[in-house]
Formats: sequence, C-alpha cells, structure tokens
Amino acid sequence: MQTVVLTGASRGIGHATAKLFTQNGWRVITCARTEVPDLCPFTQKNQDHFIIDFSSPDAVNSGLERLRLLLKDEPLHALVNNAGISPKFEDGSRLDTFTTEGSVWEEVLQVNLLAPAAFTRALATSLKNGKGAVVNVTSIAGTRVHKFAGPAYAASKAALSALTREQASDLGKFGVRVNSVSPGEISTGMLSPSTEAEMLEVIPMRRIGTVEEVAATILFLCSGSASYINGTEIEINGGQHV
Ligand SMILES: NC(=O)c1ccc[n+]([C@@H]2O[C@H](COP(=O)([O-])OP(=O)(O)OC[C@H]3O[C@@H](n4cnc5c(N)ncnc54)[C@H](OP(=O)(O)O)[C@@H]3O)[C@@H](O)[C@H]2O)c1
Repeated sequence: MQTVVLTGASRGIGHATAKLFTQNGWRVITCARTEVPDLCPFTQKNQDHFIIDFSSPDAVNSGLERLRLLLKDEPLHALVNNAGISPKFEDGSRLDTFTTEGSVWEEVLQVNLLAPAAFTRALATSLKNGKGAVVNVTSIAGTRVHKFAGPAYAASKAALSALTREQASDLGKFGVRVNSVSPGEISTGMLSPSTEAEMLEVIPMRRIGTVEEVAATILFLCSGSASYINGTEIEINGGQHV
C-alpha cells in the first residue's frame, strides 16, 4: 500500500484529495487544526490524523516529531502541502498593501510557506526511501494580482512556487519529484461570496473549478504516470492565462 501525508485535509481541496487517494487504495495520513469528524470515512485510523496548527512554528515542529515517530523513516510515497489561508476583510474583500498588517504577513507566510518547507525537510528521508512525490498547492494569485487575494497571500504562493523549483533540484537526485498545482477559482470556503459572479467573465470556460478536478491533478502528479515530471507547476484555472 502507498502512503501519502496530506495537509489541510479537513475541508475543500484537501478533503477531496483525501477521499480520492483513499478510493485509490492509498493510506492517507492527514493534518489539520481540527479533529476528524466521527462519520468521516476518509481517514482510516485516528492515529493517522495529526492536529497541528501551522500558524505556530512550535506546533509544526512538535507535530512533525510525532509524524516521524509514526513513519519511522518507512517509505513515504507522497506529501501534499495543501493547507493554506487567504485572509480577507469580513465581507470577503481584499486586504491590500495598506491594510495588510504585520501580524497577517507573519501568519500567512508561516502557514503557506514555512510550514510546507518544514514538512518537506522533515519527511525527506521517508520520501527518499519511497522515491516519493511532493505536490505543493500554490495559486493563480502567485503570478498575477487577484481581485480577492492580497499581497501577503500572493507573495507566499509565489515563494512556494520558487520553493518547488528548489526542492525539485535538491531532491531529484534521490528519485523524489517535486511539483506544484496552481488552482484558479475553485469552489471552497476560501472563496469570497461574490467571487463566482465577478470572475466568470475572465474565465474562458465560464465556470469555476471543482475540488475533485484539483484532487485528480494531485493524484496524477503522485502517480507513476507522472514519473518524469519534476519541478513544474500545473495550472488548473479554466484557461485564465490564455
Ligand atoms: N479555493 C480556491 O479557489 C483556491 C485557489 C488557489 C489556491 N488554493 C489553495 O488551495 C489550498 C486549499 O484551499 P481550499 O480552498 O481547500 O481552502 P479551505 O477550504 O479553506 O481549506 C483549508 C485547509 O487548510 C487547513 N488550515 C488552515 N489554516 C490552518 C492552520 N493554521 N493549521 C493547519 N491547517 C490549517 C484547514 O484545516 P482546519 O481549518 O481544519 O485546520 C483546511 O483543511 C490552499 O493552499 C489554498 O491557498 C485555493
């Protein structure tokens, strides 16, 4: 059985990814701030779920210690760095250069960039032993100004894309591939209430994406079908960059 560590598994893209990997026979080790709901069938065992608040460097370090004790350097076949935050005003409007406070910058960079970097570093031995694949979930906002996502989010995702290239270079020689998926607007709780209505005009496919479409691309990148794909980023945005 192949094993994946998946962050941000409780909702949205992460939950759909946990479901898809489980359906494809993988053991899915999950992380989030919250417990697994009693009825959730997509985490096989409670011991495979880790409650970690990524906004705390100490919590990330102690969570990774616990995770490594569970894995014992056994082969890990995939790591999906999916957990992320995109702070906005309460009405869903954009925090811009003037309104993004220092504490927001710190939290966003910690959750969206430093935690994924720590995960890949801490699990590198298991990934080498499994000739595994890492998928970092970046964003369309990492390459262009977005109507709803602000500068801290954009900078964190642009940096995560750069980190993907660096990790692909460093880990490729060990048979570990590192890639990103860069979603556009995907129907999850992260979207602002008016995102769909306001963005459809600029999306050639005239619809927002589904969590299942992102999960399928992540599974592909972790599969043998992607065995020579390393250091790249797949855009999942209905053609917005045309
Ligand atoms: N939806 C989109 O349109 C879109 C577009 C581009 C990129 N993305 C990226 O896709 C990824 C998933 O987004 P989503 O739309 O599925 O978001 P979501 O529905 O808001 O889910 C976010 C996930 O991240 C976890 N998370 C948030 N803060 C955390 C923290 N401090 N510590 C640990 N876990 C935390 C949440 O778990 P708990 O709250 O249970 O802890 C949840 O599982 C993110 O990296 C996001 O930036 C999304």
